[in-house]
Amino acid sequence: MGVTKLLLPTGSHPTLRHVPPADRVRRLLPLPGEAGPVGLAEHLLQHGPLPRVGRSASQRAATVEEVSRAGLTGRGGAGFPTAKKLAAVLAATGRPFVVANGTEGEPASGKDRFLLARAPHLVLDGAAIAAAVVGATEAVIVSHHAVREVVAEAIAERRRSGVDEVNFRVVSAANRFVGGEASAVVHWVEQGIPAPTRTPPRLAERGLSGRPTLVQNVETLAHLALIMRHGAAWYRQAGTEEEPGTMLVTLLGALQRPGVHEVELGTPIAAVLGLGGGASARLQALLIGGYFGTWVAADTAMPLPFSAAGLAPLGAGAGAGVIAALPVDACGLVETARVARYLADESAGQCGPCVFGLPAIAGALERLAVGAGYDDELLRRWLGQVDGRGACRHPDGVVRFVDSALRAFAAEISEHARGWCCGTGRRRVLPTPGRGR
Ligand SMILES: Cc1cc2nc3c(=O)[nH]c(=O)nc-3n(C[C@H](O)[C@H](O)[C@H](O)COP(=O)(O)O)c2cc1C
Ligand code: SF4
Repeated sequence: MGVTKLLLPTGSHPTLRHVPPADRVRRLLPLPGEAGPVGLAEHLLQHGPLPRVGRSASQRAATVEEVSRAGLTGRGGAGFPTAKKLAAVLAATGRPFVVANGTEGEPASGKDRFLLARAPHLVLDGAAIAAAVVGATEAVIVSHHAVREVVAEAIAERRRSGVDEVNFRVVSAANRFVGGEASAVVHWVEQGIPAPTRTPPRLAERGLSGRPTLVQNVETLAHLALIMRHGAAWYRQAGTEEEPGTMLVTLLGALQRPGVHEVELGTPIAAVLGLGGGASARLQALLIGGYFGTWVAADTAMPLPFSAAGLAPLGAGAGAGVIAALPVDACGLVETARVARYLADESAGQCGPCVFGLPAIAGALERLAVGAGYDDELLRRWLGQVDGRGACRHPDGVVRFVDSALRAFAAEISEHARGWCCGTGRRRVLPTPGRGR
């Protein structure tokens, strides 16, 4: 291991030996129980100095290649290869922008807030590195309002110590589900409107101020910061061959200790739930991946690896890293109907499928949930009519979620369709702000 010089904000520059995190799992969140944000000096002692990225075309290409070798994929939900996004912005014409997406519009998720609240400098390092790779001099951190001050203070600290070549600013995110979609984030920062815009042009070509824009989830940027410090080979020591690294997960529902944890991709679902102390009640189903995710039978999912490949047999994926545990005394149909209504209300209201289709789907699920009638053929027709038809992927996500409920709760559906309702829907598991939880 090489000896590196630490850049300390005090101006003192002792020469210290720096090593990658010893724990192969706790990389982003090395300090258990750490309540407050890690300050810049401590952050640099923990992780080592901010790596400098070579500015020549060949050095930039080599950096993108290293990220590609690491196999880093986006942690905002879609799992797109980060190296491809960097390469697309690098290839575009014009002075680019970097946007760190910490909107976390999904109410079931808390991992981006958790990360920013504890390790803001790791995210800022990642944004600074991404900016250097694509040649940006400005980066906007779009932060969930709950942690905006932490981010602002971290930026001020860096400014005082002069560690960055990039100019940072922080913007409070829109408090809307679709406000986290990449083009909506840009629209919000620019015009205060949290609604997606039509593509093309792609953001990599024309985004903020009409300039090429790289939008990455804040967790993705934190991983990038570690890859650039310790290399692709180190990064690949955790996770699976196809899906390397770690991921933050938000555990909620009927668990002993719901919360945010860091796991290796490929960890069996039962072991992931074990980090939350295991089930606090008998479980019937899990919602994996969040509100654009998939309901699966709990027993079937438990031995499977938490990864896209591991969950593919169930039609599920890691998504935004949410796992919600549904106990037997809650109703999957009631939960699904309430979330579907929440998602219908949260649409940006600018495309037909969202404006007409999603409320109709939510209404059908609400009637089904209380045993007030169900037309399976009609509901499936509506799902087919909205899938892939919006300007953004909001309706597709809703279809995936509802479709999985129709499979996972098939037995309950036939009973509800006959007018029977057990009344267990009173126990609420999934948060739907503005709808009683
Ligand atoms: C309706 C909708 C909401 C989204 N909300 C978020 C969000 O809150 N945070 C986020 O990082 N990505 C969100 N995304 C994904 C972003 O569009 C984008 O893919 C992501 O920020 C890119 O970063 P990544 O490649 O690092 O994951 C959302 C997508 C959709 C369709
Ligand atoms: S599909 Fe829905 S959420 Fe997406 S832009 Fe259209 S109306 Fe808005």
